[in-house]
Amino acid sequence: MKDFLIVFYSQTGSNRFLAEKLAQRLQADLEMLQPRIKSIPVLLLLNKLGLNPGIRPLKQNPEDFKKIVLMGPVWMGQFVIPLKAFIKQYNDRIHRLYFATCCGSYDEVKDDKFGYEHVFKKIKALMGEKCVHCEALPIALVLPDEKKKDGETIMNTRLTDQNFKGAIAERFEEFVEKLKET
Ligand SMILES: Cc1cc2nc3c(=O)[nH]c(=O)nc-3n(C[C@H](O)[C@H](O)[C@H](O)COP(=O)(O)O)c2cc1C
Repeated sequence: MKDFLIVFYSQTGSNRFLAEKLAQRLQADLEMLQPRIKSIPVLLLLNKLGLNPGIRPLKQNPEDFKKIVLMGPVWMGQFVIPLKAFIKQYNDRIHRLYFATCCGSYDEVKDDKFGYEHVFKKIKALMGEKCVHCEALPIALVLPDEKKKDGETIMNTRLTDQNFKGAIAERFEEFVEKLKET
């Protein structure tokens, strides 16, 4: 059995950046989730209606990996449809799950309506004991102090090789250690 499979969904690139960095760091297999519908407004509407068009089948079998790392954004405080579809379609083939998100909400507002903690709770409820750890890598970690709570700046900032340093890189390293140790 192999150690890690990293499965990610990303619309604007930040979670792809993180997933690729993690795959490199752990020498892990990497797979991008392919939703059957790509438009954000349509996915949000379907989510609201409780409908899920699902994802295309993965190339890898999650059962062949000790640990699955799922990565993707938070939208409207929700667990986004492609990530949810992955859990629904593959739950019984996952041994241990880790979740990480590069999201807009930052630590001080994690429990607010649009905070990442809602998504963590949802995943833990769906996966139970199999969900070992959830980690947030908020985009605010790459912003200067005066912009850390500025909604427009948060929404327009993406992770890049230039801004991936300091607080976000430190939190990423802690996550890597957690993945190796637990
Ligand atoms: C329609 C939309 C809604 C969003 N809502 C939230 C939210 O409720 N909470 C949050 O933390 N981030 C929210 N975000 C910010 C994204 O989570 C953030 O930009 C993320 O890094 C995007 O990931 P990606 O570049 O991999 O697609 C939202 C972004 C979009 C486009």
